[in-house]
Amino acid sequence: MGTKHEHYASLAAELSALLGGERDFFANAASFASFIFRALPDLNWAGFYVRRHDELVLGPFQGKPACVRIPVGQGVCGTSAEKRATVVVDDVRKFPAHIACDSASRSEIVVPLLVDGNVIGVLDLDSPLLARFDSEDEAGIEKLVGVFLQKTSVAGITG
Ligand code: SME
Repeated sequence: MGTKHEHYASLAAELSALLGGERDFFANAASFASFIFRALPDLNWAGFYVRRHDELVLGPFQGKPACVRIPVGQGVCGTSAEKRATVVVDDVRKFPAHIACDSASRSEIVVPLLVDGNVIGVLDLDSPLLARFDSEDEAGIEKLVGVFLQKTSVAGITG
């Protein structure tokens, strides 16, 4: 078995092939959510929130139905959008702002979708395991988000 770094490099190539020549945001977001939910072990939720003014609104996802609107600045997702940075939470019970959508979630990573310095949405992954996402996962998931953004048209996505 290769290193985690190699594994993410190969997932990036697979994701690129999966998206192919499609540029549509919602088609690619749906494909990416399904891909990552199945490719990474120990996830109970994987999906997108898209920015609409000062809120994040639920986009394509895999997992149980989740909260639909999250104000920027609230929850792990809204914190990531506000800071324009990836947020990793090892234990959601110790992150006071965490918004519980699935009581099975124990740890979480949120990666902002940054386009020309603006957050157009976030990718959110939840795990039933504590501290599921280490620094290599963070770098690897950011790389996958980079592939998604490079292959996807975001024109007219934010409201
Ligand atoms: N836990 C997130 C809310 C979204 S769900 O996990 C899908 C948050 O605190 O922003």
